[in-house]
Amino acid sequence: MAVIGIMSAMHEELAAVLAAMPDEQRVQVAGRDFWVGHWQGHSVVAVLSRIGKVAAATTATVLLERFGVDTLVFTGVAGGLGTDVRVGDVVVAQGLLQHDMDASPLFPRHEVPLYGRAHFEADAGLSAQLAAASQQVLAHAGQHLGAGTLAEFALNAPRVHQGMVISGDRFVSTSAESQALRQALPEALAVEMEGAAVAQVCHDYGVPFAAVRTISDRADDGAHTDFQRFIREVASRYSLAILSQWLSRRQPA
Ligand code: ADE
Repeated sequence: MAVIGIMSAMHEELAAVLAAMPDEQRVQVAGRDFWVGHWQGHSVVAVLSRIGKVAAATTATVLLERFGVDTLVFTGVAGGLGTDVRVGDVVVAQGLLQHDMDASPLFPRHEVPLYGRAHFEADAGLSAQLAAASQQVLAHAGQHLGAGTLAEFALNAPRVHQGMVISGDRFVSTSAESQALRQALPEALAVEMEGAAVAQVCHDYGVPFAAVRTISDRADDGAHTDFQRFIREVASRYSLAILSQWLSRRQPA
């Protein structure tokens, strides 16, 4: 049976996924708890990604090597960079890039040495399925979050975007830094700290990968405001609803 790996960036997201798995068993590897079980008839391994590129790459490698995962989906939050990417929107990655990779002048800026590329594509089919699931969820955002939460976080007609997500070992929390990223990488829609590293691992193993990120902030001077509450009350609920919607439409293989 196909095994789906679900990497959650946040404890709250993972807790919501585990609450939906009736039979999860904990397996400890490399100091991490991997939760093996089922969700909606699919064989699933869920795990906290940990934060930053190296930690997430290690988690992904264990998923692929030890647990035979053959589809990997990452959920979490990100800072919005695209001009129309607002807090409460969802970004589904089409391509991912490490914005802090720079081995110039030996290699072009952002290129991962010896790979001959800076971009790692997400799986197109998987991303399309997750974008469709995200559209479904956001179309009924009030149902998943409650009207009070929508109003509290001023979420108005949240949208799904598809495009480039960039990753680096830095929480971007100044307007100067987000502006510099926009200038260097004008197509980037969102910035986070893990996705491109996991995409690279999945590329190495030839395993389809997709990433879904809820925009928690604008990667500017207000980026830390209400972060924990947003994760608990908005992002975790979106992730659960999107994954659940996606799995309900997917044929168990
Ligand atoms: N994840 C959520 N917001 C982020 C930001 N502003 N920078 C990096 N990672 C993030």
